Amino acid sequence: MIDIHTHVLPGVDDGSQDWEETLQMCRTAVEVGITHLVATPHFIPGAYTRGIEIGSQLLEGLKNRLATAEISLEVSLAAEMEPFPEMVQWVEEGRLPLYPSGKHLLVEAPLYSSPTWLGDLLDDLITLDLVPILAHPERSPIAYTPIPERLVKRGGEIQLDAGSLLGLWGRETQRWAWIMVGKGWATYVASDSHRSDIRDPRLLSRAREAIARERGEELAQALTEERAKKLITPWCNSGT
Ligand SMILES: [Fe+2]
Repeated sequence: MIDIHTHVLPGVDDGSQDWEETLQMCRTAVEVGITHLVATPHFIPGAYTRGIEIGSQLLEGLKNRLATAEISLEVSLAAEMEPFPEMVQWVEEGRLPLYPSGKHLLVEAPLYSSPTWLGDLLDDLITLDLVPILAHPERSPIAYTPIPERLVKRGGEIQLDAGSLLGLWGRETQRWAWIMVGKGWATYVASDSHRSDIRDPRLLSRAREAIARERGEELAQALTEERAKKLITPWCNSGT
C-alpha cells in the first residue's frame, strides 16, 4: 500500500511527538504492508507552519534513521493545507509543497466549517492545471454541500480517512465515507495516522480489508495503492 496522508514527522503538528514515535509508526506501517508513506504535516497559517519550514530537513533525517534502523520504507513529503483565501497565490509563488508529482496538493476539508469560497478556491487550483485532493470531506460539514461532487466532476480528487470507513468518527461520518466510495467519488483512502498507538498506520490495512470485503479486491487495491503511484512519481512533460 501507499499511504498518502500521515503526520509522521516529529514535533511539527499534532502528530508524532518525537523520533522514537516516528520510527514506531514507520515499523507499524511496514508490518501492515505499506511500502511508501507520504509525510503530510499540517499547514495552518498562524498555527502550524513548521511542517513546511523544516519539512525537507526532517524528511532527510527520517530517511537516515530508517536506513540506520533497517526499516525498508520509502518516504516522501507533501503537506495537508488548511484552505485560506490567499492559497492560490501562495501556490503560484511556490510557497506551498505539492506531492512529488508536482501537480497534486492535499487540501484539508475543515472539520467544523464550510467556507463559502472553498468551491471557487478548488476551481481556481484546477484552472492552474493542478489537482487538488480534498482530505477527508466525510468528516466535514462539506459532506452536506455540493462541493465534493463538483470537485470530482471538474477533475479534482477526494481522499477518505481509513478511520472513517471503520467507524472511528461515528456512524454518520462512516455513512458518508461509504456513500463516497459507492458514488465513485473517492480516489484514495489514507491512514491520516497521527500517533503510534491510536490513529496509527494499521487503520489503512484494516480499511483496505473492509473495502475488499464490501466492494471487492480491485477497488481496495485502487484506493490504497494503484492510484497513489502517480502522486509519488515526479511529473514529466514529454512535450517540452
Ligand atoms: Fe491529517
